[in-house]
Amino acid sequence: MKILITAGPTREPLDPVRYLSNRSSGKMGYALASAATALGHEVTLISGPVLLTAPENALTHRVETAQEMFDAVGAAAKHQDIAIFAAAVADYRPKLIHDQKIKKHSNTLTLELERTPDILGSMRSTFQFTGYLVGFAAETENLIENALDKLHRKSCDLIIANDVSRRDAGFDSDENEVILCFPSGQTEPIPHQSKQTLAHDLVQRIVKLATEKIPS
Ligand code: CTP
Repeated sequence: MKILITAGPTREPLDPVRYLSNRSSGKMGYALASAATALGHEVTLISGPVLLTAPENALTHRVETAQEMFDAVGAAAKHQDIAIFAAAVADYRPKLIHDQKIKKHSNTLTLELERTPDILGSMRSTFQFTGYLVGFAAETENLIENALDKLHRKSCDLIIANDVSRRDAGFDSDENEVILCFPSGQTEPIPHQSKQTLAHDLVQRIVKLATEKIPS
């Protein structure tokens, strides 16, 4: 199958030396890409800036900003059977990118931010993706309620929810523990394990679910 995966954070520039970003390491997305290539799938990996090596057999596009990730996903989306959105896309970016380094003129500095494009939320509408659509929901409270809300808002087939307030799972950890959330409202907890073994399990489940949804 053709699988599109987004991974890592995005960086939203403020001036030539500064940016807004987040703590995503890209480990979960890269583990999914490795598992999917190892299982013989054709993987397109769209990655924000991370310190990881991309799997050899994946077609990898490196991007920096949410807008660049949006454009790269848009260019690849139509031809995919499955899309898995593991990237931690910045939700806001500085409205003004300064040409020169901002100097310390006063004691306080107010930044005006504007929304970035919602890439996952554009898949069904703007990019007309009809395949199996999987999002992640990184939450610090009301995990399942927020995940199901995201699933419906972004027309996903599955949301993989994880509690990022935990130290031993989620952002920048080598391990993760997730709950699968389906459109019916049904949920299924997946036990705590390494991101590698979890990724393998997730790809196998997603491929099976996608095959049931889109019979060849
Ligand atoms: N996502 C995306 N583009 C964005 C924001 C999020 O593609 N601009 C994707 C993420 O890759 C993830 C899913 O949407 O698969 C949910 O991301 P999250 O940040 O948890 O959700 P948001 O829609 O940004 O909602 P909020 O931050 O308000 O919880």
